Order: sequence, then structure tokens, then C-alpha cells
Amino acid sequence: MSHTLRWVLILAASFFAVSNAKANILNGVKQSIRNFPDGFMFGAATASYQIEGAWDADGKSENIWDRLTHSIPCRIKDCSNGDVAADSYNRHTRDVEMMRELGLDHYRFSLSWSRILPTSFPDVINDAGVQYYNNLINAMLKYNIEPMVTLYHWDLPQKLQEMGGWTNPHVVDWFADYARVAFELFGDRVKYWMTMNEPHEICNAGYGGMGKAPQLNFKGLADYMCAKNLLVAHAKAYHIYNDEFKPKHGGVVGMAISAGWAEPESEEHVEASNEALLFGIGQYAHPIYTKEGDFPQIMKEKVAVKSAAQGYYRSRLIEFTPEELDMVRGSADFFGLNHYTSSIVYRSNVTLANNEDSDVSSYQPSSWPTSASSWLKQVPWGFHKLLNYIRDTYDNPVVIITENGFSTLGGLEDDERISYYREYLNAMLDAIEEGCNVAGYTAWSLMDNFEWLEGYTERFGLYEVDFTSANRTRTPRKSAFVYKEIVRSRALDPLYEPNTNVMTIDEGH
Ligand code: NOJ
Repeated sequence: MSHTLRWVLILAASFFAVSNAKANILNGVKQSIRNFPDGFMFGAATASYQIEGAWDADGKSENIWDRLTHSIPCRIKDCSNGDVAADSYNRHTRDVEMMRELGLDHYRFSLSWSRILPTSFPDVINDAGVQYYNNLINAMLKYNIEPMVTLYHWDLPQKLQEMGGWTNPHVVDWFADYARVAFELFGDRVKYWMTMNEPHEICNAGYGGMGKAPQLNFKGLADYMCAKNLLVAHAKAYHIYNDEFKPKHGGVVGMAISAGWAEPESEEHVEASNEALLFGIGQYAHPIYTKEGDFPQIMKEKVAVKSAAQGYYRSRLIEFTPEELDMVRGSADFFGLNHYTSSIVYRSNVTLANNEDSDVSSYQPSSWPTSASSWLKQVPWGFHKLLNYIRDTYDNPVVIITENGFSTLGGLEDDERISYYREYLNAMLDAIEEGCNVAGYTAWSLMDNFEWLEGYTERFGLYEVDFTSANRTRTPRKSAFVYKEIVRSRALDPLYEPNTNVMTIDEGH
């Protein structure tokens, strides 16, 4: 069945998402069991630097996270690094076994640019690196697990960083060449591609702040250079696939965009909420998913006015040329959404300081249930509102939830994670009932991994990884058993209590 056809069917089916609801009883109160639409895809995700380890094995070259973790002692909370991580480079067999245990339809992982192209360019292709991904992909396909591949999940080759990384306009060609190599190597088997993971974190946190490598901390300038180049690079890769590979392979290409919901503090702050969304999700989604393309108008106006008032000769927000605008507009077959949490926003005083371009402040009330990550509170209704916002703002695109998940400090009894997943899936089903075209859901993460600046202190895995054991033993948490049942039954039963004694692979997986 073609993918487009499949999605049309999913859309149709989604209107009947909660038909057939059965009921379960808790304290005499009826709890309904809600079904997912036919054809809905369930998966789990990881990323190369966070799980692979083998940082310099078999010809892989250095990337910006290798450099950051090695050169600045204890820049990472627990002074750790991704040198070994979950050692997935050597353990793909176990990783695929876990996918089979969960009964996943798809697995989202990313490719390490510097593992495939050690010079950063296509003149040298590292066979060992290619072999690793081939082994992983082939093992998944053997068990009908669909690979969803992200080309760039934050691990830029260090050499490219030294030439400016995402601020250098030549990165458009560097990335397009890398994308072409990946399409050539794996395109016969990989049908779901994402160019970038979370552009906001790449540019705003990595170039505008200190939150991610390369920690450039050059807000309002480097982040905007990055944003523009990254969007054009994405579009170039999209068109290469669309023109040269799609006719043969029939796959789809999108981007995984991160977004939180911005709830106005009161009626008076609705405009501030709109602005927060435009500076957040809109910065990257508007150029691709709106009919007009380009950065949001409010954003363009605000940055231009502030830049002029600060004494700049032109806006700090770099404009697209008309050709680029055209190239970027419409350059996605689906909307990949990474969503975790929400905040309350309000209008704050206009300032020219620190290149703060949106005049909005935010907070999270202490009453919201919290995770092990300071930024991550459980706010399922925010997910529901965000999905409706995407439906209304971007003409109801096909959405794949490419990440959603919850952190704990570790341990196998993770009832809080189970509650988070259930509440968020329930909110997503509400949105699907209201016509949001959500085709799939991907839990972050299949297993514990290197959580960037937080190292191994925050755990997101359905499987716990013992980072002190030589073979990085993976053990299913209670949430893994619950997720397995959701995937098996294609239904959400709020009262299901798993038997966590033994994890098995069901027939057909
Ligand atoms: C989003 C990122 O894509 C992923 O790498 C990270 O681990 C999770 N958020 C949790 O913070």
C-alpha cells in the first residue's frame, strides 16, 4: 500500500478513534478503554550520540559532542560523556530484540554524520560505519519494524564546526551531500526520513545559548544565521529526495520540530501566547508548512524594529532570498512533532537587552506534576491544545509524534512515567477525535541514554540501562510492559496492570 494511501486511510479511520470503547471499573467508576485508529503506528526513538558509544571506533571522526565532553572537564552534570553510552554500536542485536519485545511498528534512530563520512564530505565513505547501520536496518526489517531515520540529531562533525557549522551558508551543500549519501546507501530500505531533529535546540540552544553544543552563546545573531541555513539545508535535502529518490523508493521526508504549548496566563495575555508560539514552533514551521512560507510576520517585524533601535544597519533575522523561500515552502511530506511539556506565558516589558526579541516571559506552576528534568512537567492538556493549534495553523498536516516521554531518576517501578504516557496518549486521542491528523506516536526513549548536559542523571528509557555493567544490560521497566500492551491491543486501558515477571516476544514479532 502506498504511504499516501495509508495516511488517507488513517485520516478516515481517525474519526472513529474511540468507537468500540469498552469499559473497566475503578472504585465503582467506569473508565473507558479507548482504541487507536486502524493503521496508527507505534514506535520508540533514540539518537546516535546518545546511545551508540564507539566514539572513535572503526574510523569514526570527532563530532561537536565528542569535543565538548572531552575538552571541558565536567561541563556535563555527572562529568560523563558519550564515549560508550549504551554501547549500541556493539549491541544492535539486543536493541532489535527490545523493539520486538515491545511489538513496535517503527523505530526512530539517527545517523552519525562523522561515522559515515569521517572527513565530513563524501570523498571518504566509512564502510564500517555503513555496515553498522545496514546491520541495524536489516535486522529491523527482518521483523517488520519500519526504520525512521533522522539525518541530523545534533552531532555535527567537529571540522565543520570549525568552519562555522550551521552559521556558514556552505553548510547547505555540506548537509545536502551527506543527505544524498544516506539516501543512496539506505534509501532502498528506509522509507521515513527526517532531516533535522529539533532545529530550535540546534540553533537557539546551541548557537544562541549554552544549552547544547557548540555552546556559542551568541543570541539574536548566530541563532538566526543557523535557523536560515538549517531550513535551506533541509529544503535542499528534501528536494534531492523528492526529485531523485522518491520516484524509485516512494518514501517520505519531514523534520522533527520541538514545541511546547504556551498557555496565556489570562485573557489579557493571549497575544503574548501567540507570540511565544510564533517565536517557538513558528520560527521553523512557518517557512515550511504555511502557504506564504517565510518566518512569521510578527517575528520579522519585532526583530527588525529592535535591530534598528539597537543601531544595526539591517535586521539580525536573516532573510530568505525569493528562491530560498520557494524552495523551503512546502518542503515536507509530514510534520514530525517532538512534544514534552507546556508553560504559562505573559507579556513582559519590552527590552533591547540581550537581544531578547519576543517580549514574553514564562513559568511553570509548582502544582504541575514534575519529572526528574527541571523543565519537564506533566501537562497533557497542553499537548491537546498544541495539536489543535498545528491543525488550525498549518492546514491539518499529517503529524507523526516523533518524540514524547518522561524522565525519572532511575528504577524499574516507574508509575509516574506510566501516568504520563497514558495521560498524553489520552490527550492525543481527544485531538484525533477532533480531526487532527495524527498518524503515529514515538516514545522517547527505547532505552536510557546520554541526556546531553545532564549526562546519565536523567533517565527517559522504557528500558533501564545499567551503565556500570560491561555489557550495558538493558532491563524493561514497568512502563515497557504497559507500552507493549498498548501497542498489542491498539487501545488505552487506564487500569491495565502488567505482570512484570518476564518479558517475552509475542508471536509474529
Ligand atoms: C529531545 C531530544 O531530541 C532528545 O535528544 C532528548 O534526549 C529529549 N528531548 C529529552 O530531553
